[in-house]
Amino acid sequence: MESKKTTLESIKIIEIPKIEDKKGRGNLSVIEKDSIPFAVKRVYYLYDVPSNAYRGGHAHKNLFQFLIALSGSFDVVLDDGIKKTTITLNKPNKGLLIPKGIWRELENFSSGSVCLVLASEEYDEEDYIRKYKQFLKYKG
Ligand code: TYD
Repeated sequence: MESKKTTLESIKIIEIPKIEDKKGRGNLSVIEKDSIPFAVKRVYYLYDVPSNAYRGGHAHKNLFQFLIALSGSFDVVLDDGIKKTTITLNKPNKGLLIPKGIWRELENFSSGSVCLVLASEEYDEEDYIRKYKQFLKYKG
């Protein structure tokens, strides 16, 4: 779908398979080729984020992202230009798929939280919409 037309309906929480060790050695989660609907071209992570800070505050024209709270928790505020929703990520085996054309803000980071981001494209500043007014205009 064209990024101007994507709505909150296209956001997905994806359960990541968890392999629990039978001998009590902890859990292992794995993301494979078919787990998410795009090929990963870039991986980055947010950490040491102060609890009063917020990240994001932009949308992407082409980029798909998959966010995981590897540790701790944080809130993701999502906005398609019409509706808004907030999703709390707090499990290493639960990921949030954010398609292109969705405004996102990340806030309320717990102490020691780590946000892993799998991205469908390499970093490209041209792909960002960083002004909310411009985002609303873009979404028509
Ligand atoms: P930004 O995407 O604005 O971070 P956030 O959405 O988490 O608030 O990026 C912050 C800075 O890091 C900005 O100067 C661009 C740079 N950056 C890269 O160089 N490569 C990357 O892959 C990313 C995500 C950001």
